[in-house]
Amino acid sequence: MRLAQQLGFFQTTDLEPLMSYVTQQAAPGDVPGVLRALETYGTTVAYMMHLGPHARQVLEQVLREHRPRRILEIGMYCGYSSLCMAHALPSSRITGIEHSRSSPALCQALFAYARVEQQIEIIRARAEKAIPTLPTAYDLVLMDHNKSLYLQDFTLLLLHQRLAMGGVIVADNVNLGAAKAFTEHLQSRPDFSVTVHVFPRHGDPEQTDSMLVGVYQP
Ligand SMILES: C[S@@+](CC[C@H](N)C(=O)[O-])C[C@H]1O[C@@H](n2cnc3c(N)ncnc32)[C@H](O)[C@@H]1O
Repeated sequence: MRLAQQLGFFQTTDLEPLMSYVTQQAAPGDVPGVLRALETYGTTVAYMMHLGPHARQVLEQVLREHRPRRILEIGMYCGYSSLCMAHALPSSRITGIEHSRSSPALCQALFAYARVEQQIEIIRARAEKAIPTLPTAYDLVLMDHNKSLYLQDFTLLLLHQRLAMGGVIVADNVNLGAAKAFTEHLQSRPDFSVTVHVFPRHGDPEQTDSMLVGVYQP
């Protein structure tokens, strides 16, 4: 399972069983209940590669500190992290980029059930194609997609001025080897103030996971 988690294999994007589970566990509009249902589904029914509660705590702390209004997420999967952010900051607008065929339908169904669908826009595309076409700069960018693309897509974000001055970049799973070049690059930049948070891996507490938070201060 650990190797599968690292490689991102075997994750569920099966809409019907997941929605049926969520609707049994949480009432419509109950975002914390929907998030809890996704967490238990991911540890008891089928492997899921959503953020999980430890990374969620770090993300929510960043949201409380920086209160971003325009949020970009790269890698939405089932929409867990978008739901966290929509619930933590109801006045924010979230744009998510997701390239898989199945995830957007799953996200849409969950966002509608949680009644946050007005707050979240889904762009189905590869990040490298979508970033240059985005209409604005974002106060927070959450990167949780292919770890080996973090550095490439971060470079595109800056090139196209998609991260606002004083904006925050949050990147999940930076302990994985594929994210090493990105982490080292960010830590070497004088225009970013970087913290790496380490916590137990969701579903496998003997292992650690980590999330990078970088504040852009050019
Ligand atoms: C770890 S999951 C995201 C989990 C999500 N943040 C959550 O908490 O539910 C990674 C997602 O990134 C997507 N992805 C991977 N590479 C991508 C790319 N280049 N552009 C857009 N999406 C990508 C995958 O399809 C997958 O759904």
